[in-house]
Amino acid sequence: MTTHATDTALDLTPQEREANLDIEQLKQLVGLVEYDESKDPFPVTGWDSIVFVVGNASQTAHYYQSAWGMELVAYSGPENGQRDHKSFVLKSGSIRFVINGAVSPDSPLIEHHAKHGDGVVDISLEVPDVDKCVAQAKSAGARVVREAEDITDEHGTVRIASIATYGETVHTLVDRSGYTGPYLPGYVARQSSWVKRDGAPKRLFQALDHIVGNVELGKMDEWVTFYNKVMGFVNMAEFIGDDIATDYSALMSKVVANGNHRVKFPLNEPAIAKRKSQIDEYLEFYNGPGAQHLALATNDILRTVDELRANGVEFLDTPDSYYGDEELRSRIGEVRAPIEELQKRKILVDRDEDGYLLQIFTKPLGDRPTVFFEIIERHGSLGFGKGNFKALFEAIEREQDARGNL
Ligand SMILES: [Fe+2]
Repeated sequence: MTTHATDTALDLTPQEREANLDIEQLKQLVGLVEYDESKDPFPVTGWDSIVFVVGNASQTAHYYQSAWGMELVAYSGPENGQRDHKSFVLKSGSIRFVINGAVSPDSPLIEHHAKHGDGVVDISLEVPDVDKCVAQAKSAGARVVREAEDITDEHGTVRIASIATYGETVHTLVDRSGYTGPYLPGYVARQSSWVKRDGAPKRLFQALDHIVGNVELGKMDEWVTFYNKVMGFVNMAEFIGDDIATDYSALMSKVVANGNHRVKFPLNEPAIAKRKSQIDEYLEFYNGPGAQHLALATNDILRTVDELRANGVEFLDTPDSYYGDEELRSRIGEVRAPIEELQKRKILVDRDEDGYLLQIFTKPLGDRPTVFFEIIERHGSLGFGKGNFKALFEAIEREQDARGNL
């Protein structure tokens, strides 16, 4: 990778600065790279927020605080004029989650939730120039679902617009450089009544690494082209066919990233297999394409996993045979923790020419077998755990079988 220090200087986002992260940390955590924004037709600085619609936002917001160590920072609801729904804004490191749930029986969120269950409706991105992005999106044929507009309150002005992506998911584009409020106009600062127990770490993860989208059979390349043509994203690693097939489950996956690699979108489609693949199961229960998993980056996956487990979070099991496998052991070589410590926690390891990564996947977060989280600790590797896909799929299929969906 070439770098030109003069015209590609990396800046921290306000969210990263607030979280006391630095550039070197981010290079390690999420594989941040330098790039020349001036040549980008659709410059994206990074993630702004991940917006969920859930069946019970009050309880989900509590869960992300009590189990995931996130902090409540802002709120909007009937008490401050938002009669349609409640909205809780939570933070951990530079990650911002927004949890929305219907209050009014007439809320459009009810229909959305009935169709899809709990899930991600908006992968919102921070951009330096909303109008430039919207003009590029229109000229490349994207659907603009919210025209660029200013929204203002006593804390300043946010410029905002939204474009459609796969399924009913959107990318809201936000320029909050002229805004100092806790989230967006209409929200008030709110602190949690939840108190962390003594000795609990300040946070369990620092940054968002990637969000995977599941799309229908035959649509993966269409969406790769969308991210290339509309949003100027570049192609990263590519996994196809046999690499990630088991007897029953198979998928195809390609990865696109924005210029500085803060935002990475692996896109999966089902591949033909003997039985229904995990992507088909997702598409059936989410009722269409949507966000499958969000990878949360940590610099201490052992501690993060220990804390999460103590808080009742459930992870996919990994067979002990995975850790005893001679081929795997020789392929991964030396990593920062003894393999026995990883085995105890069911953490997976993968290595490529750039380094290695440690990762683990949770069980589905809601009632439907749809969205889940990954915890990832990178050590040089810019991959996504290709070598673990088979081991992971076999574990997922055991779960799928137990639900009667294989
Ligand atoms: Fe992942």
